[in-house]
Amino acid sequence: MTNLPYERIVVLTGAGLSAESGLSTFRDKDGIWSKVRIEDVATPEAFARDPQGVLDFYNGRRNGAGEVEPNAAHAALARLEAEHKGDVLTVTQNIDPLHEAAGTRNLVHMHGEIRKVLCNHCGTRTPYEDDLTVDLVCTQCGNQGGLRPDVVWFGEMPYQMDRIYAALGACDLFISIGTSGNVYPAAGFVAEARGAGARTVELNLEPSEGITMFDEAIHGKATQVVPAYVERLLNGG
Ligand code: NAD
Ligand code: APR
Repeated sequence: MTNLPYERIVVLTGAGLSAESGLSTFRDKDGIWSKVRIEDVATPEAFARDPQGVLDFYNGRRNGAGEVEPNAAHAALARLEAEHKGDVLTVTQNIDPLHEAAGTRNLVHMHGEIRKVLCNHCGTRTPYEDDLTVDLVCTQCGNQGGLRPDVVWFGEMPYQMDRIYAALGACDLFISIGTSGNVYPAAGFVAEARGAGARTVELNLEPSEGITMFDEAIHGKATQVVPAYVERLLNGG
């Protein structure tokens, strides 16, 4: 028996969730993609063309992510997972560690994790907090020069898609938070949830690209709208 009208909840989060922790979003005014081109830092071709340039971009983002704290929205999602008697799966497009820092455990980083390094040669993902350089050697396979940030780039397949689609196909509530709905496949998750008969809710600063797909939308800052919505949910709302 759950304390909510919903049994299985899937939460999708994007850069807007971490904005009030001090991390830049991508497509807002002054967003990351207004300062650097996707083609130069977030594609496999960019890494092949200028590996140290790509590593420097992510070294800067890793150092930034290490200096910030989770905010009230991250805490509210950890509370939802802890207090809801049914299932809650949080799927994040974010590569920062703020969900874990707030206490969320049932979590998928579909675009990877800035605090890990991936070997292009053997596929091993390893926690790694220092700056990446092109001469690093993989501790698993010994290959040199193939270590890259554990970040899914444009044109690559995100992590754990089978698990995500299985959860979307079985959920009865889908909550999308802090994402513009610009990038697939994440932008298509709301349609998957609707197809499963789930109620769909958007909590975002402004209407996303997928706004017409949501049964309910609450627009405002995540640190305000997310705690309020979780409180409402945990009280049967
Ligand atoms: P996409 O077509 O889903 O990208 C949508 C948006 O990204 C575009 O509207 C544009 O705004 C931007 N974009 C994509 N490629 C671009 C480019 N070469 N130049 C400028 N803008 C570009 O992206 P995709 O290429 O189909 O890749 C989708 C795959 O990449 C998915 O698996 C997704 O999870 C992954 N991905 C990862 C990241 C990341 O930084 N970790 C970012 C986006 C996508
Ligand atoms: N509270 C709530 N929402 C916010 C806040 C805030 N304080 N600040 C910004 N937002 C919203 C914006 O209105 C926007 O809709 O967060 C969204 C951020 O959108 P994007 O910058 O496009 O980030 P995201 O949707 O996570 O991008 C998806 O694209 O480039 C790739 O890998 C990158 O994972 C990312 C993916």
